[in-house]
Amino acid sequence: MGPGPPEEENDIALRPKRIADMVGQRDVIDVLRIAMDAAAKREEPLGHILFDGPPGLGKTTFATCIPREMGVSVQLASGPSLKAPKDILPYLTNLEERSVLFIDEIHRLPKTVEEYLYTAMEDFRIDIVLGEGVSARTLNLQLKRFTLIGATTRAGMLSGPMRDRFQIREHLGFYSLAELSEILTRNAKKLSVQVDQDACAEIARRSRGTPRVANNRLLWVRDYALSKADGRVTLPIVEDALKMTGIDSLGLDRQDRRYLETVIRVFSGGPAGIEAIAHTMNVSADTLVDEVEPFLLRSELIVRTSRGRCATARAFAHLNISVKPDDQHPLFESQ
Ligand SMILES: Nc1ncnc2c1ncn2[C@@H]1O[C@H](COP(=O)(O)OP(=O)(O)OP(=O)(O)O)[C@@H](O)[C@H]1O
Ligand SMILES: [Mg+2]
Repeated sequence: MGPGPPEEENDIALRPKRIADMVGQRDVIDVLRIAMDAAAKREEPLGHILFDGPPGLGKTTFATCIPREMGVSVQLASGPSLKAPKDILPYLTNLEERSVLFIDEIHRLPKTVEEYLYTAMEDFRIDIVLGEGVSARTLNLQLKRFTLIGATTRAGMLSGPMRDRFQIREHLGFYSLAELSEILTRNAKKLSVQVDQDACAEIARRSRGTPRVANNRLLWVRDYALSKADGRVTLPIVEDALKMTGIDSLGLDRQDRRYLETVIRVFSGGPAGIEAIAHTMNVSADTLVDEVEPFLLRSELIVRTSRGRCATARAFAHLNISVKPDDQHPLFESQ
């Protein structure tokens, strides 16, 4: 692998290597430890695992730590790049006993590939059709017993049969401030940068509950401190650095605020359909659903109703937009 862009290198450097180095997600780790322990004792492959949750919460980190813990090899693949059964064939034939095949964005696997995986997951076997028409023959290929680890930002987009073939299904949720602070403290040490405690807490507070965001903020703040001061990260440095890149007090970035402004100003606070919001903002609805909405929902800045998305009173207050007294918005009836 050639030298990647600096961001990517830092991402690799900061990514935990072992599960013991991972912060938070205790419930998930407890389940995995038991499953790994039992699989090792039975000398069997670990059951197939599905991770779901918003971007940057540790799905790929888990998928790379697990094989390391088990002492088995891992192959990495991604849903969108597996366009036809023949694309997944090399991965399946390269499997070693008890090894891991990781498929990222597994909800984007085409139906034909997904169906092909069913027998591989269930019976460690695939049927390859050779030739066409009357001369077509089916070749039965026995595979090594392996573990499939799937990752998705949208568990809901996975078909029922696919979902049911995973023995372990774990949802990764947002991280607490204490957990993010812990991750930042560890990574500041790895990067040999001095970060004051209150500065660390402030970065955590503005990281949208997401380790990847926390790491990116840390890297930016580190550069800012080095360029504008003596390299030490203090609270005023964090405030100035984040202000410069448009990160506000809740950790929202420009795109997050544009979403809220669109719902509030264009759609009078909602309810507004996601397609309409996406169209107005000129971004894809998928991006909004996967990357923007989870944290806004968690922060109670928006709510999802059967008729669409609504901005809450908290969102109006955060953007400093007052709610008109005659507002007919259903959310404010009781306020
Ligand atoms: N539990 C954790 N403890 C410490 N750092 C973590 C943890 N989870 C994630 N990180 C950090 O956050 C970064 C992003 O995590 P990761 O790549 O695993 O997210 P992801 O869920 O796969 O995201 P995506 O959906 O975008 O692929 C990692 O490089 C790692 O440095
Ligand atoms: Mg990932």
